[in-house]
Amino acid sequence: MSKMLRPLKIGGIEINFPVVLGALAGYSDMSYRLICRSCSAPYCATEAMLDHQILEESKLCRRLVELDHADHPVAGQIMGSDPAVMAQAAVVLREKGFDVIDLNFACPVRRVVAKKRGGYMMDRPDQALEIVRAVLEAVPDRPVTLKLRRAFRETDTTCEAFWEIAHGAFEAGAAAICVHARSVDQKYTGKADWDFLWRVKREFSDKTILGSGDIHTAADALKMIEQTGVDGVIAARGAIGNPWLFRQARDIAAGREPFEPSLDDQRQLITRHFQMACQMYGPKRGPKIMRNFGIRYARMHPQPGQVRMACVGIKTLQEWQAFMEKYYGGRYPLSV
Ligand SMILES: Cc1cc2nc3c(=O)[nH]c(=O)nc-3n(C[C@H](O)[C@H](O)[C@H](O)COP(=O)(O)O)c2cc1C
Repeated sequence: MSKMLRPLKIGGIEINFPVVLGALAGYSDMSYRLICRSCSAPYCATEAMLDHQILEESKLCRRLVELDHADHPVAGQIMGSDPAVMAQAAVVLREKGFDVIDLNFACPVRRVVAKKRGGYMMDRPDQALEIVRAVLEAVPDRPVTLKLRRAFRETDTTCEAFWEIAHGAFEAGAAAICVHARSVDQKYTGKADWDFLWRVKREFSDKTILGSGDIHTAADALKMIEQTGVDGVIAARGAIGNPWLFRQARDIAAGREPFEPSLDDQRQLITRHFQMACQMYGPKRGPKIMRNFGIRYARMHPQPGQVRMACVGIKTLQEWQAFMEKYYGGRYPLSV
């Protein structure tokens, strides 16, 4: 590891490389987490799960909280508004084997904010801190982390709510904070404010800070650490369709040429992913879920536009198989 990279510590958990897979709704399910781990991702997060969903005995809940022995260390991310319900959900995640409990105070989706969840908390520091304290009390033996945004409003330059939540959370015992350096208003548009990450790390020099925003490539991840001093980096959109980003980041850090997957590497990995997705979601839903990933994997293919277009209409196992054979070579027939 290069000198500028320190080990990433989240509570008592040591993560051997500071570029990790972030929470991604619709993408960071168990199958993709395992795929990213096979490409050297050292730590992953689930997508945001609603607190009350975690407490239900439903098929959706079982799938959301499903873990594999190879899927560690892993953070289970919870989103909600009632401190007591959030605390109960944290207890369930601990029982299911999650290593870290992550609290989502960042989601900008309108209906989520309207229900006083996610990014809503960036406007309600008192409520956010009540949740943090309730969860810390409920799971004293697990590191608790927070996903925050810089501010609620784009025009907010003082970011008072951020500082209040961050100071309060660390004082209460939070293990780390991940900062998406955009406002909730900004959603996913505009530039992430890396200068803000630098200020956060300077303020909390002895705490674990992860940065998020505008990590398109492995080189961006290392650049964020170098420019801002954060302890770790969340790869999000940059890792969707390019799970090799984690291996590439390690290559760059070690002074090697970053790994470029051949078409055969891509075929093997996508085939493995397909099989896992069909096991998780069943042979009917699996191919439809994989279509979303196939569209994203297309970016690594020599003919990205064509492959993306061909993937869009796939619904069945047979259509997926024909697509794979045409664009990735068909020596290994797919089975579920
Ligand atoms: C499709 C999508 C789904 C996301 N889902 C979540 C989520 O469930 N929880 C969360 O904390 N962040 C979520 N995020 C935010 C990312 O983790 C990350 O903070 C954000 O995309 C900024 O990084 P980027 O600009 O490098 O993509 C999501 C982002 C995208 C694009």
